[in-house]
Amino acid sequence: MDIELLSSIPLFSELSEEELINISKQTVRQVYKKDNMVLIEEEIGSTMFVILDGRVKISRISDEGREVILSILCDGDFFGEMSILDGQTRSANAVTLEDTQMLIVRRENFLQMLYDYPQVAINLLKELAHRLRRSDSQIKSLSLQNALGRVASTILRIADDSGTIKHGQVEISSLPPQQDLANMAGTSRETIARVIKSLSQLGYVKKEGSKLIILEYDRFRQDFS
Ligand code: CMP
Repeated sequence: MDIELLSSIPLFSELSEEELINISKQTVRQVYKKDNMVLIEEEIGSTMFVILDGRVKISRISDEGREVILSILCDGDFFGEMSILDGQTRSANAVTLEDTQMLIVRRENFLQMLYDYPQVAINLLKELAHRLRRSDSQIKSLSLQNALGRVASTILRIADDSGTIKHGQVEISSLPPQQDLANMAGTSRETIARVIKSLSQLGYVKKEGSKLIILEYDRFRQDFS
């Protein structure tokens, strides 16, 4: 396992080379093909995953059978830690959106890592705090806002997760498909198309193919977070 690659993963940041070598011995590297269901909601969990290269959709199915997308995870992100930590069943489904290379860590190895390397535990808690903040803002946007606000908040979450900022503008290089955006924002595909058009006309965003640019990030954040 490439130690430099391992050190670039936020969960393992600030560890020494020796510690990273130890960690690499406790992981297995595996490629999952696109559209592979890696985790199924309510199954018993005994492994957690770190994404080295690729994208994974985390979702649940509502009582009416509608997909609700909780997050789209990418390089350096991890998932599958919740059922390891609390002993309950998987809280959501995880599906690869493209061919994805991952590290797999068994439950006992992951728990041992947390005992052996407090920095891994702190990195884990930081990410869980980030996810809680994200969920809090998602709850706020779903309960308080109209369709425009909900879609804009969803775009903001994607920008914060994977956008690149330059001269006050944030570029999202590949916006998820409209149906996925709808399942993230709790609305329909038609509403997504209509709202993105309105946001363009209002001068908030510019769309170029699957790329979306937030023209004045500070103003956008102020108006929609
Ligand atoms: P686990 O419950 O073991 O299996 C499903 C995984 O999805 C879960 O662990 C988390 O890693 C991940 N997950 C659940 N909810 C969210 C969320 N809101 N944001 C990001 N990841 C999540």
